[in-house]
Formats: sequence, structure tokens, C-alpha cells
Amino acid sequence: MKNVLITGGAGFIGSNFIRHLLESELELQVVNLDALTYAGSLDNLRNLPRPDHYTFIQGDIVDQELVEDILRNHDIDTLVHFAAESHVDRSILGPAAFVRTNIQGTFSLLEAARKVWIEEKKNSIEPARFHHVSTDEVYGSLSKEDPAFTETTPYMPNSPYAASKAASDHLVRAYGHTYNLPITISNCSNNYGPNQFPEKLIPLMILNALEGKPLPVYGDGRQIRDWLYVGDHCTALMSILKNGQLGQTYNIGGGNQPTNLMLVEQICTILDERLPDSPYQPHADLIEFVADRPGHDRRYAMDYTKIQTKLGWSPSESIQSGLKRTVEWYLENDAWLGKIRERPTLKDWLSKNYSDRGRKT
Ligand code: NAD
Ligand code: TYD
Repeated sequence: MKNVLITGGAGFIGSNFIRHLLESELELQVVNLDALTYAGSLDNLRNLPRPDHYTFIQGDIVDQELVEDILRNHDIDTLVHFAAESHVDRSILGPAAFVRTNIQGTFSLLEAARKVWIEEKKNSIEPARFHHVSTDEVYGSLSKEDPAFTETTPYMPNSPYAASKAASDHLVRAYGHTYNLPITISNCSNNYGPNQFPEKLIPLMILNALEGKPLPVYGDGRQIRDWLYVGDHCTALMSILKNGQLGQTYNIGGGNQPTNLMLVEQICTILDERLPDSPYQPHADLIEFVADRPGHDRRYAMDYTKIQTKLGWSPSESIQSGLKRTVEWYLENDAWLGKIRERPTLKDWLSKNYSDRGRKT
């Protein structure tokens, strides 16, 4: 691994991964291809270590020619694919962008890699790898009694987001099987940590609580997610890139499954302790139960035995320590928050396009 192309590196997880790479892999050159949609920001990449090892290219992963040029010109041997439309609520209201970026975009990347790595270089590139970052949501929803998802759980995606990621996973696996493209896939659970755009549960709750705004909990708040600290996700990805077997899928999870309501209450308690003079004490009083998300998956849980036993990875952050670190990061990054507040939120998008939840104007 010498020259790495990251797609979607200006987003939440991609930007954390680029920082991790530049901090830990001293010889690497890192190229970041990102379209800078509402979800991407160069502010996530400020003050990177070893900036001479880093190149940013603004562009669209659907543009196959551009991707081919990058693979050739930067002699890329490793591609880590994060770029996506990633928010379930947006996929329910406007699925077209998810089909375009997540399915067509992944297809363009695969075609570019096939052309440059296999057709042009006749496999002389050693050792190349196309790593696809995906989600536990492809497996569908669990009941209380069901065992956690494993790598062999049948796919049953429920939201347009999950369906678009499932389609992209299938394409990646098929390119490995059919063309011998050197691929690996990871399916991970809900990430949280620095740089996450505040339309996802944890940063939305932290920011709303800081401003004394309502904390909207969907439905009864008893849905369950498996929470993975983004730093743990980065170390899991590194272990796959270094030692993961080609053609294999690895599940990555955080090893904890609170209900959404418990999680929001935990954030409120951390804020109560951290900000004893806040006028919004106790922050839990801001919790409001709102209409449920259509087709809302009830429970996700990840069995990460495979990556643990085969690659020796397990998460190091507990939900308590990870949430504390995350709250602290949002409290310490005022400038980042100021800029993020200028970006179009789901609420802006909704008020432009819809009179109320789900009904188009
Ligand atoms: P994000 O929404 O924060 O960032 C996505 C990035 O992709 C942005 O920088 C955006 O500008 C870029 N992008 C979007 N469309 C593009 C296009 N057509 N061309 C180039 N760049 C484009 O996403 P994230 O939360 O960092 O997620 C990264 C990956 O991890 C995604 O593939 C997502 O499906 C997967 N994932 C995320 C989570 C999570 O909890 N966030 C959980 C499981 C899997
Ligand atoms: P989210 O962060 O959107 O991730 P995902 O849908 O990919 O799991 O949501 C996490 C959980 O939190 C999910 O069950 C929906 C719920 N949720 C709320 O209750 N209120 C909110 O405002 C948001 C954004 C999510």
C-alpha cells in the first residue's frame, strides 16, 4: 500500500480515516476525491499532519474518466470507497441521489479500477485493493430475540439508502468474483464521533441541547442501534487493508446496543455534568417524542467475531467514553460548528420541497 485513493474523504468517516492514515502510515500518499456535497467539508480536513502527503481533488465518483485519470496519474494501488449519500431520512424523501451516487457511483469506480488495474496493467499492480465501506442496514431489521447480524445474514434492506448500499455491495462482490478485481467489503454499524454532520442522531441531539432546542426522538424511542466510535472504525479498516483476505466481507460493530432514548438521555446527563450553569438544565427536559420515521428499522446488532478472530480487531471505546469524547469535541470546536450551521440542513431541504413530512408541495 503506497498510493491510496479515498472517495468521500471530506465527509464524516472519510475525513477521520484520512487523518488516521496520515498520522499512522508515514510513507503513504493519500488522494481524496470528493464532490463536496452538503455532507462534505474541507473544514473536516484542516491542519492535517504531513500535508505534503495529501492531495485533494474535487470531483464526482460517477465521472469514470476522472477516476481512471486519478488511478493512472497517482499510480493508485489502494482505493477505499466512502463516498455516498448516507442519511436514511433524506433517502426516504429523495431517493434519486442515492441511486445515482451509491449505485452508479460505485459502478463507475469499479469500471475504472477494472480498466486501469486489470485491462491496462494486466494485473501487474501488486498488491492492489478496492475496499468498499458499507453498512449493517443492508441486513434489515432484527427482532428482540434475533441473534446479531453476521457476514452470512441474508440481505433484506428496508430503506432506499439501505437498498442502494446493498446494490453497491453486490456489484463489488460480483466484480471480485467475475473479473478477479481485488476487493474487500466491510459492513459497519452506526458511527459517531468528531466531524459528523448534525442531521444524524448523536450530533443533532448535542447541538440542539446546547441551543435549548427540542430533542426529537422518533416514535417510542425504543429502537436499537449498535454504536461504533469512528476511531475504532478507522483501526478496523486498517486491519482489513493490511491483513483482510481478498473477496471477503467483514462486519464491524461497537459492541453496545442502547435504545435511542437511553442514548439521548445519556447525552443529556453528560451535558448536565459538563455544563452545570446551562439554562437548559436538566437537558432531558428538552426530549420530545415526534412522528416515527416511515419503515423505521427496529433493531440493529453486529456480530464482529470474524474480524476479531481473523484479524485481531475489537473496539476499544465504550459507549460512555466515546460519547464523552464526542460531546467534548463538539464543545471545543466552535469554529467548525459555526460553519456547519451555514450549511443546508434536512429541515431547509424539507421546507423548500415539502409542506410537511413526506407530502410534496
Ligand atoms: P457523509 O455523508 O458524512 O460523507 C459522504 C461524503 O461523500 C461527503 O464528503 C460527500 O461530499 C461525498 N460525496 C457524496 N456524493 C459524492 C459523489 N457523487 N462523488 C464524490 N463524493 C461524493 O458519510 P459518512 O457518514 O462519512 O459515511 C461514509 C461511508 O460509510 C458511506 O459509504 C456510508 O454508507 C458508510 N456508513 C456510514 C455509517 C455512519 O454511521 N455514518 C454507518 C455505516 C456505513
Ligand atoms: P440516524 O443517526 O439517522 O442513523 P440511521 O438511521 O442510519 O440508523 O438515526 C439513528 C437512530 O436515531 C434511528 O433509529 C433514528 C433515530 N433518530 C431519532 O429518533 N431522531 C432524530 O432526529 C434522528 C436524526 C434519528
